[in-house]
Amino acid sequence: MSNTTNRRTFFTWMTSTFAALTAGRAAAAIETPSAMEGPYYPDPSMRFADVDNDLVRIAGQVKDAGGEIITLSGRVLDEAGGPRVGYRVEIWQCDVNGRYMHPRDRNTAPQDMAFQGFGHDITGGGGEYRFRTIKPVSYPGRTPHIHVKIFDAAGQEVLTTQFYLSGHPENQRDRLFRAMSEAEAHAVSMRFEGDQTVLDVIV
Ligand SMILES: [Fe+2]
Repeated sequence: MSNTTNRRTFFTWMTSTFAALTAGRAAAAIETPSAMEGPYYPDPSMRFADVDNDLVRIAGQVKDAGGEIITLSGRVLDEAGGPRVGYRVEIWQCDVNGRYMHPRDRNTAPQDMAFQGFGHDITGGGGEYRFRTIKPVSYPGRTPHIHVKIFDAAGQEVLTTQFYLSGHPENQRDRLFRAMSEAEAHAVSMRFEGDQTVLDVIV
């Protein structure tokens, strides 16, 4: 390889690395995009009495929910990176069989009665939140996702969105996922290390 080719290869590498780094930074800094609530938000009357941040274990039951158990955590931040303290983070999702805890879900799969389906956490002093739940699965018409709703400390709803599995093959066939820009998709995509995923929300 000539020196010129070497230089050119190095330059190409530098350019693409820089582009990747700036893309990462841009993605991290953008406000978390909102998404439709969908038809299956469980109203209080539809929920289990247990609405804590462990969706895999319902208080008083001995059985864990079916599915791949994961920990989803992160921080709720303002645009300057400061913590949003005392914010309420709600999540809801279908069970391992693709069934929502909602009477309008026409899916005939049996409901996993050990899956809480809905839970919440309140952000701490650093804006942190944490859930134990299952890795979302697909159901007809949708790529796997977790619904997320955020309320400020005064109880005002500030964001409704959906979290996705980074790199899931069905994402590219999902209408809502495809409607997002690359940076928006990055901001709501869960990347895993083992059974742990960390995703900050900027509101
Ligand atoms: Fe959904």
